Amino acid sequence: MGPDLLHLSAAGVSLVLDCRGPGLPSVAHWGAALDDVSAELLVAVAPQPIGFSVDGTVRPSLLPEQSSGWLGSPGLAGHRDGRGWATAFEVTTVESADDAVHLEAVDATAGLKVRIDLELQPAGVLRGRAAVTGTAPGTFWLEHLTLFLPVPEHATELLDFTGHHLRERQPQRTAFTQGLRVRENRTGRTGYDSAYLLCAGTTGFDNRTGEVWALHTAFSGGARSIAERTYHGWSALGGGELLLPGEIGLAEGETYQTPWVYAGYSATGLDGVSSRFHRYLRSRPHHPATPRPVVVNTWEAVYFDHDLARLSELARAAAAIGAERFVLDDGWFGSRRDDTSGLGDWFVSPAVWPDGLGPLVTEVRGLGLEFGLWVEPEMINPDSELARAHPDWIMSTGARLPREARHQQVLDLANPAAFDCVLGRLDALLTAYDIAYLKWDHNRDLVEAGHPGSGRAGVHDQTLAVYRLLDELRARHPGVEIESCSSGGGRVDLEILERTDRVWASDCIDAHERVSIQRWTSLLIPLELIGSHVGAPASHTTHRTLPLSMRAGAAIFGHLGIEWDLTRASAEEISEMSDWVRLYKSLRPLLHTGELVHADVTDPAYSVTGVVSADKTDALFAIIATGTSAAYPPGTAGLPGLAENRTYHVRPQPPGDVADGNAAAWGAALPWCTPTGVRLTGRTLGTVGLRLPVLYPDRVLLVRVTAAGLPPEGSTPAGLLPEGSTPAANEFGPGTAAVGEA
Ligand code: DGJ
Repeated sequence: MGPDLLHLSAAGVSLVLDCRGPGLPSVAHWGAALDDVSAELLVAVAPQPIGFSVDGTVRPSLLPEQSSGWLGSPGLAGHRDGRGWATAFEVTTVESADDAVHLEAVDATAGLKVRIDLELQPAGVLRGRAAVTGTAPGTFWLEHLTLFLPVPEHATELLDFTGHHLRERQPQRTAFTQGLRVRENRTGRTGYDSAYLLCAGTTGFDNRTGEVWALHTAFSGGARSIAERTYHGWSALGGGELLLPGEIGLAEGETYQTPWVYAGYSATGLDGVSSRFHRYLRSRPHHPATPRPVVVNTWEAVYFDHDLARLSELARAAAAIGAERFVLDDGWFGSRRDDTSGLGDWFVSPAVWPDGLGPLVTEVRGLGLEFGLWVEPEMINPDSELARAHPDWIMSTGARLPREARHQQVLDLANPAAFDCVLGRLDALLTAYDIAYLKWDHNRDLVEAGHPGSGRAGVHDQTLAVYRLLDELRARHPGVEIESCSSGGGRVDLEILERTDRVWASDCIDAHERVSIQRWTSLLIPLELIGSHVGAPASHTTHRTLPLSMRAGAAIFGHLGIEWDLTRASAEEISEMSDWVRLYKSLRPLLHTGELVHADVTDPAYSVTGVVSADKTDALFAIIATGTSAAYPPGTAGLPGLAENRTYHVRPQPPGDVADGNAAAWGAALPWCTPTGVRLTGRTLGTVGLRLPVLYPDRVLLVRVTAAGLPPEGSTPAGLLPEGSTPAANEFGPGTAAVGEA
């Protein structure tokens, strides 16, 4: 049918497929690039036939089957009224290129055909998907279709993610022991607690060290991510959709397609995996290419208290501070004066906006800002005109309504009438007003989410309908950007990002919490896609009070926004916030194209995060303390990712150069932390690094690293203090950035 062996290779990654058959190909190698691949490799890695198993060699395929002798979890599960549950696919066609393989295989007995697509992207990210088609009369009931990629046995540890509202994507590490670890998401959205990026790595793998194999299941409905290790010496990661009972029944000629499963390999720890995913995402033709505008979002400023005069004042404050996009959040439509009613009625509320949104849009546009609008198109409040008119559009099993969540239910968008109604309203709003941006929210889990007429499970259909809705709106309004929000960061995945331009990482804007939420969100997606806002001094969700330097210093490592009633901020706060906005604008070309790096810091209270420009001539690092240091004074940390042989000028970056460290109060200022700074090579900075400053908990110190010897060496890059000058004083006097020792 084709060659015995296929080798895809890109950017230091190789995938070698053993196609000798008789069944579907198996993976002989996925990992570091190989340059001498021959059929001998297949012999070298072929497992030894063992006693009391099936006779001969057992090589599990990309969709492992019992017919190959495999007794772990199957790639395809399903049946035709109890038959056809065990398959033995025979490959019929293979099309391959240097960077892709597409193959088809049939099992006439089971009445099924499968197609597998594998693509190795130039950044070294592998993505794969499978499709199964019924080829016989009757119905094949599919339980799941899961694509597997084996990893070597020396991947001994697993890292995946969990979380909840206000604390999304938190890491959890376990040993990669024998058995099956299945991370299921049954929330009907990607989930705060999705496995996100399931990583298997060598013992102790960290930001910069160890081999890592990582898998992301790109779907915004139910998903399964799997790590399996068996006593047969087989270790693998797998991904696919979580299907509900009876959700997919394939009649003859009908096809089910899995989501894309993305996989990244790195020989240099987690940063290497991120680098591949970020390069891949940035290479997409629709990746946001314009400077990411500074957003002012109204939610934590006014909540449901919509008032033209007040919001116009906020817009003027936003413009004065340098913001570029003004987003009107929840509360502008129907009876939506609080969260108990109105969802579904996508008409501007005449009670609150008697002249429509026009006056506000005109004010905002006149100030030179883009206008953005919040919507939650998939949802419906039982207390709404829409629900009263179409109670039959609410998802349910048919027998009863699901329990409400935030007083709302889910609209059955697989129903063409409901779909057209929502599409029509959104289209009308985008046509009527000069709207550049939609914040697309989704505020409940899908519970008992069936099609109300048939009662059949509907999460799969709903998810695809949402994709179609987004695609259609983007086709009709190509200039409009869309943010994926789901009660904060409940819908962050690579398939929603095929049709959105930003994710809202969390409703928790507290910078202390955000340090971790953003670090782990950015494991998969680059900073320019991560909405990151400066909130009020006292966080609304944690009641923690933090200085602006910490709130803004953490927020600039993302797509910056402000979610704070600026009309109530002091003149000093406005002035300082303006400085941060200026800094973000000057740094966004670096932050949104550069390589994200993280030092391996042993002190649990400290992190060192940096972005190094593609040409390695410029970098910004943030030294952040979220607690008191283990050692006093703290130790050193490397600044990774710089060009080894290049000399760099290292100095604090205002306004993040005064971190209110208590060293200045009770001890000596930190010697390197002056506008004069130090000049060291990238190798020295990577291996020895810098002495960490003594910081109060929840403080950030920014460090700018610019290549020495290149123009404008001798001049001072925008925002940096001239050498020899004295930095701004903090509450204790000279601050950590003071020159010399006290
Ligand atoms: C949840 C979102 O995450 C918030 O930012 C806000 O838009 C509210 N919904 C509005 O109801």
